[in-house]
Amino acid sequence: MNWRRWQVFLLLGLLPGFIPAQPSTVAYNPSPQAALGQYVVLGWNDLGMHCMNKNYAELCILPPFNNVWCYAIKRGARPEITSQGVTLSYRFPTNTYSAGKVDFWTYAPSLFGVTLPANVGLTGHGLTGVLDWNGSAFEVTGVPITPFEDAAPTVEQPYQLVEVTLKNTITGAQLDQTNFVVPTSVEIHCDTCHHEDNETPDYNILKKHDEENHTSLRSHRPVLCASCHSSNALGTPGVPGVKSLSQAVHGFHAGHARNITCYSCHPGNQTQCLRGAMFIAGKTCVDCHGSLSQVASSISQGRRPWLDEPKCGSCHDANHSENPGKLYRNSTGHGGLYCTVCHGSPHAELPTAQARDGLQMTRVQGQATYLKDCTVCHITVPTGAGPHGFKPVSSVEKWATYYQ
Ligand code: HEC
Ligand code: HEC
Ligand code: HEC
Ligand code: HEC
Ligand code: HEC
Ligand code: HEC
Ligand code: HEC
Repeated sequence: MNWRRWQVFLLLGLLPGFIPAQPSTVAYNPSPQAALGQYVVLGWNDLGMHCMNKNYAELCILPPFNNVWCYAIKRGARPEITSQGVTLSYRFPTNTYSAGKVDFWTYAPSLFGVTLPANVGLTGHGLTGVLDWNGSAFEVTGVPITPFEDAAPTVEQPYQLVEVTLKNTITGAQLDQTNFVVPTSVEIHCDTCHHEDNETPDYNILKKHDEENHTSLRSHRPVLCASCHSSNALGTPGVPGVKSLSQAVHGFHAGHARNITCYSCHPGNQTQCLRGAMFIAGKTCVDCHGSLSQVASSISQGRRPWLDEPKCGSCHDANHSENPGKLYRNSTGHGGLYCTVCHGSPHAELPTAQARDGLQMTRVQGQATYLKDCTVCHITVPTGAGPHGFKPVSSVEKWATYYQ
């Protein structure tokens, strides 16, 4: 038995309100998937957190922009990843509008050169709609969701829940429905340090930038930082000779700011975007990404920001690692499935410390952890080996045996 895993499991059980009290030795839930029919829909977000600005009048680091992914799996001895004959629609039941909660729509024309209808994002998608088959999964890009729910439009809730409904396209019959986290946060606290009398924090940043770099950002507001500093997040090439945004921001602050942490700018002390299995195991940003100066210096040594990131395989074994040359979120494993459908988003690898992250797996397998119940897809436990060569002994023992 892997004792360290038990330790994680026990620790989780102690978090209030997370896993309902249950004896940790009997982890098997008799028929959690009784409600599943012929199909199961499972979804995930490609990033464990999306950061966006709240105010766009002066500067923009990132726009509202979330990507939502789903599989419609036809259950059986050989589960099928269905691409046709089904329609997947999405909505956010408690978060139905974005315009007004953030002022992005006022400034999108000057920042991105497009006039967008209210509540429609940069790829033309809104807060409700359908997911399209992209060749490997169903996806909708650029959903402009904000962390502000209708009932409390000034209170940040970074763990928004999307509802995806799977229907037979011809008959309209509902086949399955799921809810999962689409995370987004405005907790980019440049204001902790950038505040001076009579200036907004954003204006202060532009002023400092102009004074030191002979630019005139203040007379060209709002400013898209990535218009001069390349960013692979937005796909902007930047101005030749100017550092990438990641290198400029991390490298400069490593040399100039005291007591700065990753959560000074990334979300954040309240949001706690790092919340997955490795957070529970005690890892911090620096264990995987290196220090602030290393995030920058690795770029001068050839690392491509956003594209070259830490690897699961650098701590786990080769049997539990990404496909060569691919990011975790783009890698596939058992049955050709994306790792993320079973394990969740980066920084939110199941089990996580955020109760909402566990809802989907609790629904299908009765446990808020990574997908390990074969019957969710196979209906009965296969006799052959499954993910990573794992082989449960019998259907009754299917939970307990994972820990042997
Ligand atoms: C922990 C404090 C801290 C935080 C948080 C912080 N900064 Fe800074 N920043 C500084 C310091 C210190 C300087 C040096 C200039 C000064 O004396 O104010 C600076 C300078 C800058 C400059 C001017 C660069 C130059 O060439 O002089 C820019 C641009 C900037 N910060 C952007 C940002 C942005 C964007 C954020 C949020 C994503 C941010 N900062 C968050 C402390 C901070
Ligand atoms: C008009 C082009 C332009 C825009 C827009 C722009 N920058 Fe810059 N920035 C520069 C240039 C040029 C430099 C100096 C050369 C360099 O560092 O590559 C610079 C330098 C910096 C530095 C200091 C880097 C260092 O190592 O000294 C930081 C930090 C920075 N920019 C952040 C930002 C942020 C944040 C924004 C958005 C608010 C932004 N920049 C928008 C052109 C721009
Ligand atoms: C001063 C603000 C600031 C601090 C502090 C900061 N970041 Fe960032 N970080 C940013 C901004 C702004 C971006 C977006 C850059 C872009 O759009 O390309 C970013 C992007 C990133 C990225 C994606 C781009 C890349 O280089 O691969 C990583 C990874 C990252 N940060 C890690 C860290 C880690 C780890 C820490 C703490 C050691 C940290 N950051 C601290 C502002 C900050
Ligand atoms: C257990 C290792 C691990 C820890 C701890 C970790 N990261 Fe990451 N980070 C990754 C991996 C892996 C990726 C690449 C995700 C992918 O392949 O899709 C990544 C990617 C990123 C990115 C790029 C955007 C994205 O999601 O791909 C940012 C920004 C980032 N990390 C910031 C942070 C910050 C800030 C912290 C701490 C709060 C942190 N990371 C902690 C492993 C880690
Ligand atoms: C910095 C090292 C490190 C990296 C990188 C890393 N892990 Fe882990 N992981 C650990 C440690 C330590 C544990 C806890 C001990 C254990 O169970 O092996 C753990 C545990 C796990 C668990 C088991 C959790 C449980 O409750 O049984 C899963 C699943 C997992 N990691 C997935 C991933 C995935 C997916 C990635 C890449 C996105 C990744 N890890 C990247 C160190 C790492
Ligand atoms: C069909 C679901 C499924 C898929 C897809 C999947 N895994 Fe797993 N993963 C599991 C199960 C079940 C376990 C527990 C059994 C084991 O540890 O081998 C696991 C365990 C892990 C662990 C933790 C190992 C430890 O030491 O505790 C890591 C890391 C991991 N997987 C990474 C990946 C990566 C990377 C991919 C994609 C290349 C992937 N997984 C795809 C189901 C899956
Ligand atoms: C998320 C859905 C999913 C889960 C969970 C899952 N599988 Fe699979 N499995 C698939 C898919 C998809 C295939 C590929 C079917 C094909 O090749 O047509 C597959 C194929 C297989 C095959 C090969 C079947 C054949 O006839 O070639 C075996 C054996 C298998 N899985 C065992 C397992 C075991 C054991 C588990 C639990 C530990 C498991 N699977 C969990 C989706 C899943």
